[in-house]
Amino acid sequence: MAIYYDEDAKVFTLQTRHSTYQSGIGKYGYLLHLYYGAKVEGEDMSYLIYKDDRGFSGNPYEAYMEEEQAFLAGVKPDAIRSYSMDTYPQEYSTFGSGDFRSSCLAVRFADGSQTTELRYRSHRIYRGKYALPGLPAMWGDETEWDTLEITLQDPYSGLETVLLYGVLEAYDIITRAACIVNRSTEPVDLERALSMCLEHPDANLDFISFYGRHNMERQLHRCPLRHGKQSVGSVRGTSSHHYNPFIILCEPGANEDYGGCYGMSFVYSGNFLAEIELDQINQTRCVMGIHPEGFCWRLDPEESFTAPEVVLSYSPAGLTALSQNYHQAYRSHLIASRWSRERRPVLINNWEATKFDFNDQKLLAIAREAKDLGIEMLVMDDGWFGNRDYDRRGLGDWFVNEKKFSNGLTALIDSVNELGMKFGIWVEPEMVNEDSELFRKHPDWCLGAPWRKGVYSRGQRVLDLSRTEVRDYLFDAIGAVLDSGNIEYVKWDMNRSLTDVWSAKLTPERQGEAGHRYVLGLYELMERFKQKYPDILFESCSGGGGRFDAGMLYYMPQIWCSDNTDAIDRIRIQYGTSFGYPINAVGAHVSVVPNQQTGRVTPLAARGAVAMAGTFGYELDITQMTDAEKQCVKEQVADFKRYYEVIQYGRYYRLTDPEERKDIAAWSFVSEDQARALIFVVVLHAQANAPALRFKAKGLQPDRIYSVSGLNLQVSGAALMHGGLVLPKKKGDYISFTFEVEAT
Ligand code: DGJ
Repeated sequence: MAIYYDEDAKVFTLQTRHSTYQSGIGKYGYLLHLYYGAKVEGEDMSYLIYKDDRGFSGNPYEAYMEEEQAFLAGVKPDAIRSYSMDTYPQEYSTFGSGDFRSSCLAVRFADGSQTTELRYRSHRIYRGKYALPGLPAMWGDETEWDTLEITLQDPYSGLETVLLYGVLEAYDIITRAACIVNRSTEPVDLERALSMCLEHPDANLDFISFYGRHNMERQLHRCPLRHGKQSVGSVRGTSSHHYNPFIILCEPGANEDYGGCYGMSFVYSGNFLAEIELDQINQTRCVMGIHPEGFCWRLDPEESFTAPEVVLSYSPAGLTALSQNYHQAYRSHLIASRWSRERRPVLINNWEATKFDFNDQKLLAIAREAKDLGIEMLVMDDGWFGNRDYDRRGLGDWFVNEKKFSNGLTALIDSVNELGMKFGIWVEPEMVNEDSELFRKHPDWCLGAPWRKGVYSRGQRVLDLSRTEVRDYLFDAIGAVLDSGNIEYVKWDMNRSLTDVWSAKLTPERQGEAGHRYVLGLYELMERFKQKYPDILFESCSGGGGRFDAGMLYYMPQIWCSDNTDAIDRIRIQYGTSFGYPINAVGAHVSVVPNQQTGRVTPLAARGAVAMAGTFGYELDITQMTDAEKQCVKEQVADFKRYYEVIQYGRYYRLTDPEERKDIAAWSFVSEDQARALIFVVVLHAQANAPALRFKAKGLQPDRIYSVSGLNLQVSGAALMHGGLVLPKKKGDYISFTFEVEAT
């Protein structure tokens, strides 16, 4: 059991291999946060709470009454005036009760009052992992997980909050979620219902977040905390290209191999807020959950609301170990698809090759060439349905455009299968174009009040996925296509932000629920597809990486990382992505040059090396390649298949930081038994009379001897890790190297 309750001290301790998390029931029943950090055993960490009488930091009523009695008995008041919600570390902060920092919970009761005070009522500790109804969450069995549930209650209103904690000891993972229940007889409006609060007693932390834009997602940003609130978040209805729902707080000196680092990953795909407040006495509070902007959730008596899961991890030894915790835990306990463990096919996608301009003959020609080169699946992208010849038409009409298929879609799939290749298809279920049969029939199925024109984006509108009939239509219409042939892969795209969020099915006082209900509807729909088609490999996409989050990963084992396929930009995008997400979740393809997004020309070898730090595939017209290029593709595909195990399941190491090194980028994969490694290097900037290009390997066994392909080298792991490797001299930008490192 990784969870302990000390009855005398009233302290809960959660242990993982390298970390300890502790909270305690304080005086008057408040649940206080005591510690999260490197492992300590058998200690009560409540001594860390600093007690002081601070001006303008009020005290709960019971504390005041004690003070009054003590005062009458002649005790100095400042011995007791210290108990304040304004300064004490909380497990779940509430608005209105003297804690003026970022709150998790803000409520409006039927009488308009807004104060909530949560006090301990009961708790439960059990083996196994809690589940969250209708929401994605990490999973596993009784041998791996332990759960703690703490029930808190507002003594005045009866409002109840159950805090959920899951402990996955082996991977240093602690999950958190919260369930709020209205135990009163009147409706209650939740105006803020975040998932967790995490306190830190110091100011001395750096905040790492991942910002970006369409075509340039997840760029790492690091800065010291400043006094006040700082946040990242999304109010776009999706987790967004712009900020990722994964953040890190770390010691200022922390780097890949050194220092305490806290990761926080939100298992949710809609609006989110990650807010950090450095307060007046240099304490740090981080809260994470659904963004309160535009959110309001009505709870009728006995109704409950579940705030989605946050996955915490602590590494006492730097960022690499933190990332590896997430990689291993998400591969084994979040992604709920057999494809998380099984080998996935090398695919070719026709999007960048043809856009909407294709027919069955064009696709077959690509498939034939691809088959000869060892590629295993053809994916037919956007443009196969309705009157979809442009991006302004057809979305919603999930029936085949017969004009593009001389003998129908089934015949094309059969022909591709006869070649010995699998077949995959693209869909964008959540959207509709006004020029579609669906919209003409059901204009009211879109989000948005009918008396507004609303915002258009890529010429499309958003279907109201909170509505059962909309989901049923999508399930049946897309299901009919999936049933019409041997379709083994689905790319599920989503190409705009949500605006005009209003649902025809909700009453006015419940309109603040529409955004979250959309996400719940999406999850329900994906779950239905997953249940009915467990063998289909699903890839999530939102204009590339606009919904790259742990919520989507639960349903779909891979996510198209970015619409930017330029190898050099991708190095930075994939670098940022690797901090919180496993490599085999990263959709990455080789495309043509000049690159369609940047115009940059890079060698095919470099494009291959970069795409191999992901699911690997091609996105180009292979029929237009020269024989030499085809030969190169054939070798890349064969190499990737040889490398598969170590890339997809090995440990991933970032060997260079793009902010520090402008000359090369290097990364590596090391097998769990440390017998095999792959090191990839791309030269970013060739120079005349250049200094030697050196870098150091990681993750090897120091006393083991390794051979390094291409360098004619046999040296110890210690030599490769401390002395490093020197790149052979080669001229040209974007030259790449792949070193196969084998224990002898
Ligand atoms: C955006 C995706 O990210 C692309 O890969 C492609 O599928 C287009 N949508 C198709 O419309």
